[in-house]
Amino acid sequence: MKTRQTEIVVVNPVQPEAEKIEHAASLLRAGEVVVFPTETVYGLGADALQVAAVERIFEAKGRPFTDPLIVHIAKLAELEMLVAEVSERAKLLAEAFWPGPLTLLLPKSPRISDRVTAGLQTIGVRMPRHPIAHALISALGSPIAAPSANRFMHVSPTTAAHVYDDLHGRIPLILDGGPSEVGVESTVLDLSGEVPTILRPGGISLEDLHRVLPLVELHRPVKHVEDQHTNDRQLAPGQMLTHYAPAVPLLLFDDSEQAMRAAMLSEIQRRRVQDERVGVLIADEDRATFESSGAVLYALGSVSDLEQVAARLFAGLRSLETAGVQVILCRSFGSAGLGLAIRDRLLKAASSKVVKN
Ligand code: TXA
Ligand code: MG
Repeated sequence: MKTRQTEIVVVNPVQPEAEKIEHAASLLRAGEVVVFPTETVYGLGADALQVAAVERIFEAKGRPFTDPLIVHIAKLAELEMLVAEVSERAKLLAEAFWPGPLTLLLPKSPRISDRVTAGLQTIGVRMPRHPIAHALISALGSPIAAPSANRFMHVSPTTAAHVYDDLHGRIPLILDGGPSEVGVESTVLDLSGEVPTILRPGGISLEDLHRVLPLVELHRPVKHVEDQHTNDRQLAPGQMLTHYAPAVPLLLFDDSEQAMRAAMLSEIQRRRVQDERVGVLIADEDRATFESSGAVLYALGSVSDLEQVAARLFAGLRSLETAGVQVILCRSFGSAGLGLAIRDRLLKAASSKVVKN
């Protein structure tokens, strides 16, 4: 693809300036792609109803056409044009969690191109709550198809700078609304079968969903990379263990607090002896343990504040990558609430290898 100038426009995240939103919407109307902030991560958007524009998303990301896109809406009426039928369950969930970080998979309307859904019979829809995303969809007057605005296989971007690092020269415009509030992607919930099933844990927790639909289940995680090819096509390709891989290998430690810290410390020492540069994602509570270890530290937040840990996770991975470390060690944050999404992203980055004594 030809190289082009990438413009970054800083937009007020609370009250987006109308002329900046109109500039972005006019590009979308012309069949271009535009990056915009959402409350989860930044999205690389195109008008969902223009097939050629949707294809540009795949081209800019280097993403294969077999990976379906999420379609973003600003009002409930737009859901009806995208799906074949709005079920009672969908209405309940939309009422409880929209606008917000929940994507619903529903039987698609024949009006939507197979390019958007990668030929699947379901379509992923979500109503983001970020004012810039909302304003952009409203100004366009049409739903926006958008995956995370990273290069294929890289971690999702939570700042405009992350997007620029991955996609500059490949996209015309990034709307910069500051750091993402949630920091992990939306929860992807499949409503097309008997049992509502989480294909990707995310910003809305399993516990939150259970309060509205007690039946919701978690899809069994894919254990081996080879399994990906034999799984049915309804499985979100986002579940692929290779999907979120950072450029540097990651080791996830999971044990009691004391054993976990001891195992991480001895791993650092072992590698330091061999002159390796080691990065560690720590909790605030770990600082004293690792302060003089010689490793590059990135504190994600307190173990009792998973919202902050989730919000800083991808920035932490990218920051250690940029610091030039040869390996990243990370502690576990449990699997309650947002911990499940954090664990899912760490497991993907670690290609499922967990260090346990
Ligand atoms: O928070 C988010 O969801 C962000 C922001 C921009 O909205 N978007 C995002 O999109 O993470 P993406 O494309 O990076 O991840 C969406 C995941 C992919 O793993 C995709 O395969 C899955 O959702 N997905 C989308 N439509 C699907 C469908 N019809 N069936 C199964 N999986 C689907
Ligand atoms: Mg993605």
